[in-house]
Amino acid sequence: MKNLFDLTGKIAVVTGASSGLGMSAALAYAEYGADVALLARRKEKLEQVADKIREMGRKALTVVCDVSDPESVKSATERVLEYYGHVDILLNNAGIATRGSVEDLSIEDWDKAMNTNVRGMYLLCKYFVPGMREQKYGKIINIASVNAIIADKSPLLARHVYNSSKAAINGLTLGMAASYMQDGITVNSIGPGLFESEMTQDTLFKNESFLNIYNATTPAGRPGREGELNGTILYFSSDASSYVTGQYIVVDGGASIV
Ligand SMILES: NC(=O)c1ccc[n+]([C@@H]2O[C@H](COP(=O)([O-])OP(=O)(O)OC[C@H]3O[C@@H](n4cnc5c(N)ncnc54)[C@H](OP(=O)(O)O)[C@@H]3O)[C@@H](O)[C@H]2O)c1
Repeated sequence: MKNLFDLTGKIAVVTGASSGLGMSAALAYAEYGADVALLARRKEKLEQVADKIREMGRKALTVVCDVSDPESVKSATERVLEYYGHVDILLNNAGIATRGSVEDLSIEDWDKAMNTNVRGMYLLCKYFVPGMREQKYGKIINIASVNAIIADKSPLLARHVYNSSKAAINGLTLGMAASYMQDGITVNSIGPGLFESEMTQDTLFKNESFLNIYNATTPAGRPGREGELNGTILYFSSDASSYVTGQYIVVDGGASIV
């Protein structure tokens, strides 16, 4: 029987591939047979991930890209298409977790978070969707957050622009999903709960009261472990989800259901 999760011969682009969830997903793509383009700002970190992928016998291209900078995204997408010729899978994962309430946030903070978390995704899609439509195949996976649908559980932690940007990602996902299914493109989003990464290790993981509240109010009783997001990413990235579009799956150990 055909393995519905097999990605052999596919080209996958991962933004924010230099650390955390994006790095883990890039390695999972290679493990399932895909060649990968790794995008982020830190070249050295990307090269370390690329070396691991090449050791697995897959191709890896690293491209320095600041997703908040339209020119940088344009040239990065051109470089990917020049190298691989086409793209099958786009994992829009790069993001920042700006803190603050509407009162605390500066306009610059707001714009930076929205430009990184949402406008960057729009730009990546803008440049890769035409080729996907032409080839009649594409899998787009947008990493939102459980904070698209719930506020942070700790009342001490306000992240109003983060909440806004992650909810906007789900809007983008819905609209694109409806437009492009006829072209063989599925567009879905994922809402991770708490996972340890550069984004969270020095803040949330070292904040005992936050961690206690999260664990006590999450049916799993713990944060997500390394690799626990990859099953959902691989599902949306493969033919296992060929009839699934515009969906948002929360991967949070039940944190959002209680
Ligand atoms: N960890 C969690 O608990 C959690 C929960 C919900 C949602 N998420 C989402 O998951 C995604 C990945 O986060 P993570 O937890 O893996 O955090 P992370 O380890 O901090 O990873 C963030 C990635 O985004 C990249 N990035 C940030 N700003 C960028 C920019 N302007 N241009 C290009 N790349 C940029 C970073 O690379 P460079 O610094 O090298 O550019 C890094 O590779 C984010 O969208 C985050 O909001 C995470």
